[in-house]
Amino acid sequence: MVIKKVCCIGAGYVGGPTCTVIAYKCPEVTVTVVDLSQERIDQWNSEDFNLPIYEPSLVEVVKECRGRNLFFSTDIDTAIQEADLIFISVNTPTKTFGLGKGRAPDLKYIENASRRIAKIADTDKIVVEKSTVPVRAAESIQRILQANNKPGCSFEVLSNPEFLAEGTAIRDLLNPDRVLIGGDETPRGRRAMEDLACVYENWIPRKKIILTNTWSSELSKLAGNAFLAQRISSINAMSAICEATGADVAEVAHAVGTDSRIGPKFLQASLGFGGSCFQKDVLNLVYLCEALNLPEVAAYWHQVIAMNDLQRRRFANKIISSLFNTVTDKKIAILGFAFKKDTGDTRESSSIYLCKFLMEEGAHLNIYDPQVVPQQILSELKYPSICDDPKKVDRLVTIFKSPYEAIKDTHAFVICTEWDEFVTLDYQTIYNSMLKPAFAFDGRRVLDHDNMQQIGFHIETVGKRRNMKGLNGYTPVTP
Ligand code: UDX
Ligand code: ADP
Repeated sequence: MVIKKVCCIGAGYVGGPTCTVIAYKCPEVTVTVVDLSQERIDQWNSEDFNLPIYEPSLVEVVKECRGRNLFFSTDIDTAIQEADLIFISVNTPTKTFGLGKGRAPDLKYIENASRRIAKIADTDKIVVEKSTVPVRAAESIQRILQANNKPGCSFEVLSNPEFLAEGTAIRDLLNPDRVLIGGDETPRGRRAMEDLACVYENWIPRKKIILTNTWSSELSKLAGNAFLAQRISSINAMSAICEATGADVAEVAHAVGTDSRIGPKFLQASLGFGGSCFQKDVLNLVYLCEALNLPEVAAYWHQVIAMNDLQRRRFANKIISSLFNTVTDKKIAILGFAFKKDTGDTRESSSIYLCKFLMEEGAHLNIYDPQVVPQQILSELKYPSICDDPKKVDRLVTIFKSPYEAIKDTHAFVICTEWDEFVTLDYQTIYNSMLKPAFAFDGRRVLDHDNMQQIGFHIETVGKRRNMKGLNGYTPVTP
């Protein structure tokens, strides 16, 4: 079958950019992205291109294709009916209650989407799981579809996980390291995989398109994210040793990363990784191992998360101990709330946890982020597991539109997200506007620490013990 019409269920961080690029690169394919949320679809369709997600270059690509062969709609049924191929790109958050709480992914959105396809479709469809799912989820989708099969209509389920990273989504989609397609090892399964591969071949060399069995494809996505998260936890574990010994984690990362077997990427120590994928997918893997009665394997992977939790806690403790062991009623500016630069996404951002720890100590927080809207920051902090009293958040948190305003009259500022603009701020002016001694905490290692110290700041960072000499006579209190 030549794929002419594609439907994508879910217009979020994965479905939106992925299908936009497919439409861009395959002008002869009609792509319709559908969602239950009218608000989200209205934003994708907005005249001023005020899209629901911030992603560099996304607007330009949407402008090129929207209304030509790219459409956003809430008419899910029509899009399903007309499509040759349907991507399922719905959310799969970690369960917050019931069996597998805190570990297993909640598959209710996947199941609902599958049931909708089963009910509506009356011609052959290739159904593709794009969302990250547990191994053997395709089997559940296939069973739901088969149990509701209409005469003369058959479904082939494929796994085609997405490897894009937020902030670089368009670049990653245009030039991926690989495209992974998993399917049934039957002639029909093979044909469906080839049909999907043909879509990607419009812009991706065939040698980058890997075909595997369904379970390998599903597991590879979890494994990929687990390996990446593990690298960050490994370098963060080293950062703790560096802080205790006088080694510098950047030098260690460079020395280790020049070994071509290890490589230099994903060795940036930080206040902990965030994002919607790493924690969720590692926990998903842990749950899978537990279910398979592999407790040692589960414990091995769980340590990646434990290390990340520790890193966030260690960084908060460093702030508190530097500020003379108390932050109660002190003012601290938080620079950056997104989980990384170039995105407005705050899911599992380490900023949230840092704010939680500091609010528990009664600190007043002035928060600034260039992309995250105030409502989003407040709703993350008012989540019951972060702060059980929303009034406390209202009392302790103020959101600012400028970093200078956020830092003015504070005891300290903390860089939580590595936004480029934080590197070039006028730190002399900032220093002059702060209470003294003025403290700077660089959770991303983006500042020139010697220069900051010269200005007069007491600067602390991750993975490097700062020289305690030359602090304008200030002697830190040891806990
Ligand atoms: C990740 C994977 O990279 C991507 O392949 C997958 O499809 C989805 O999950 P994403 O979460 O969007 O992508 O961003 P990523 O760049 O991987 O960063 C995740 C977190 O790790 C961020 O908080 C980032 O700041 C942090 N990080 C990354 C580090 O702390 N150090 C590093 O060296 C790299
Ligand atoms: P991701 O980061 O995985 O893309 P998002 O939460 O950004 O996750 O997007 C998932 C989208 O899927 C949401 O906009 C949500 O409204 C949509 N969605 C969930 N279930 C369905 C469904 N059954 N039909 C259509 N859209 C759905």
